[in-house]
Amino acid sequence: MTVETETILVTGASGQIGSELVPALRKIFGPDKVIASDVAEPALSLKNSGPFERLDVTSREDLARAIKNHRVKAIYHLAAILSATGEKFPQKAWEVNINGLYNVLEASRELGVKQIFCPSSIAVFGPATPRINTPQDTILSPTTIYGVTKVAGEHLADYYVKKYNLDVRGCRFPGIISNETLPGGGTTDYAVAIFYEAIIHRKYTCFLKPETRLPMMYMPDCLKSIIQLMAADFSRLKHHSNFNVTAMSFSAAELAAEIKKHLPDFSIDYRPDFRQAIADSWPESIDDRAAREEWDWQPDYDLPRMTADMLRILGEKQKQGKLTYPG
Ligand code: SER
Repeated sequence: MTVETETILVTGASGQIGSELVPALRKIFGPDKVIASDVAEPALSLKNSGPFERLDVTSREDLARAIKNHRVKAIYHLAAILSATGEKFPQKAWEVNINGLYNVLEASRELGVKQIFCPSSIAVFGPATPRINTPQDTILSPTTIYGVTKVAGEHLADYYVKKYNLDVRGCRFPGIISNETLPGGGTTDYAVAIFYEAIIHRKYTCFLKPETRLPMMYMPDCLKSIIQLMAADFSRLKHHSNFNVTAMSFSAAELAAEIKKHLPDFSIDYRPDFRQAIADSWPESIDDRAAREEWDWQPDYDLPRMTADMLRILGEKQKQGKLTYPG
């Protein structure tokens, strides 16, 4: 008789981070040990590579059922509404980001889940925060509902660490750039769209101003940070759910110039929209010394390396006729 062993649950598995984190976790822990879940129908590749549960994190019952059925011992809670979509649907952002996290924490406390990862964001910062090399411990007064939910989420998670000894960990992610799944509804998403437009049309209209500088990270570094933070010795951690992490900072114009080195006929113009105000309220660069000291964080990709890799991979996809982009 085979004894069912403990598993990992990933919420928001069809999202930008989830669709790459699930395969990475399945490689480490085995395909059957990682339960992918999402409120939406998954891509075939996700469905065919291991167990999948259709799950809405705003339903505590559904969540509890999945945890019990699969003997879940760790949750990577990625289901969330991002900044730009949040401004269009603030109530929905609160419901998913806050009630979803509360359900995950409560169900975990009641059902003996041992470890949780929940991403936070640079959106926790606001106009009153120092914008350059933003410190780890500083003013958190966001102007977006997304930022409000992430600040509350960090505090809620830290409360569960102290009150219930639940091992909750998280990073404040900057903009994440990837070539697998398109991001949905973020302010930093221009830094992904620009690559697709550069490859397909050789031109891009940016919704932020050229001088807008934001912290960013390439997906391989994002995955590395999650896996490394979750494996870190708990006794070394002074922070828990709110580690600043970063890999590079660049403006929209600097990114365009880097792309032009590879594609000389690429051109960009700028038509800022409501997302400009969101970007203006966020840091230009952040100080991630706490992550470096407490769990040895170290990124691998800077702007030139990330740009070269993005263009190479998307270019190959295009040659194979596999580049899908709705824009
Ligand atoms: N990438 C996110 C956004 O733009 C920030 O965490 O909403």
